[in-house]
Amino acid sequence: MEYDIKDPGLVELGKQRIEWADANMPVLASIRERFVEQHPLDGMVIAACLHITTETANLLRTLSAGGARVVACASNPLSTQDDVAASLVHDYGIEVFAVRGEGEEKYYAHIDACLDAHPTMTMDDGCDLVTRLHRERPDQAENVIAGTEETTTGVIRLRAMEAAGALRYPIIAVNDAYTKHLFDNRYGTGQSTLDGIIRATNVLLAGKKIVVAGYGNCGRGVASRSRGMGAQVIVCEVDPLRSLEAVMDGFRVEPMEVAAREGDIFITVTGDRDVLRSEHFALMQDGAILANSGHFDIEIDLKALTKMADGNKRQVRPGVDEFQIDDSQSSGSVGSGVVTVDRSTQGGNIAMEDGGARKGGKKRIYVIAEGRLVNLGAAEGHPAAVMDMSFANQALCSEWAVQSASGLARSVHRVPEHIDEQVAKLKLESLGVQIDTLTDEQIEYLRSWEIGT
Ligand code: ADE
Repeated sequence: MEYDIKDPGLVELGKQRIEWADANMPVLASIRERFVEQHPLDGMVIAACLHITTETANLLRTLSAGGARVVACASNPLSTQDDVAASLVHDYGIEVFAVRGEGEEKYYAHIDACLDAHPTMTMDDGCDLVTRLHRERPDQAENVIAGTEETTTGVIRLRAMEAAGALRYPIIAVNDAYTKHLFDNRYGTGQSTLDGIIRATNVLLAGKKIVVAGYGNCGRGVASRSRGMGAQVIVCEVDPLRSLEAVMDGFRVEPMEVAAREGDIFITVTGDRDVLRSEHFALMQDGAILANSGHFDIEIDLKALTKMADGNKRQVRPGVDEFQIDDSQSSGSVGSGVVTVDRSTQGGNIAMEDGGARKGGKKRIYVIAEGRLVNLGAAEGHPAAVMDMSFANQALCSEWAVQSASGLARSVHRVPEHIDEQVAKLKLESLGVQIDTLTDEQIEYLRSWEIGT
């Protein structure tokens, strides 16, 4: 068995944590019990490019219980939990190629190691595995019956592949299941993003101005949880409908040009690049904290920030980099001239080692987790209870793919409604929540059109 992990010595901790998560993943556990009996994935080789976390471990165990050979690599260089990787290899016999902090070369070498197993199914989070296979090993596509995709960014890339006629096998967009995006993206991202910011900085959120860029499901979650923590929230959005929704949800909506001048903490959740860029850095106040919760590390233009800091960058806490920018670059290259506020005279906002004192002539901007997914880079990702539904969808979709793939076109497919409904029912059951059912008369009424006023 081949693998590449950081430290086999972490195995015991990893197992303990995987079991802790499992206790909060009852839907997935019930699927696993059935998979042990029925072996619906017999003969399958599943290559999984996912965040290697305790929750993912329980998904991979489930696929393995279903009879699949499972090989796994990370879907982000900074999200791997090395103890989990160790336990997956040594306790659960799963081939894992993932080391936290791996560079880009190693990241792709690990994806290649998974492809060396000649998967018959792919399970992706962000579409790096699928694009690697299509670009570098197109001949392997004919072995693959189907794939699944976990996240919004990955689905967008896959739809672009489909539109370009490049997609060589069917993909099921797990992200688009209601029991995935309405919960994982909203409540999962909402909580775990703040968790990452708090763990990295230990700043008080109450009373802060938090700027949330993007008001999709993830942004909604982040904005509502930020408000719940007592922050004043400003939403920045490019879509008129979403902007209107944010307004009616009670948030202040502003262009980033305005928000940049006021924010204490900036959180990007858009899926697009350069959401925070030089013109915004120039406007920001001393001590601004930047975090990204979109899939890729493109939302904060770190190249521009690094250039503006001209080498004045240092790590001030684990996972927090300080960029010092000369005041000469801080007078508002967007809009009317704005002078940055010196918050050392206002008490400062960040508990850094120098107590938040402002360096003469420079303002400081802090970036968490190198601009990578803050919830996985600085915390543990979404809690198990919400990943339970996302990964129940993954497990059931891989079973469905075995049953149905031969009839599926080479395009991006929705999760079948019966799977979404099954996951919702199982989750409610696990929560001990009972719901009403329609009477026969009510069903009849909904089917009829004759009865009006
Ligand atoms: N994506 C977000 N949170 C996650 C988690 N805990 N495990 C796997 N993927 C995730």
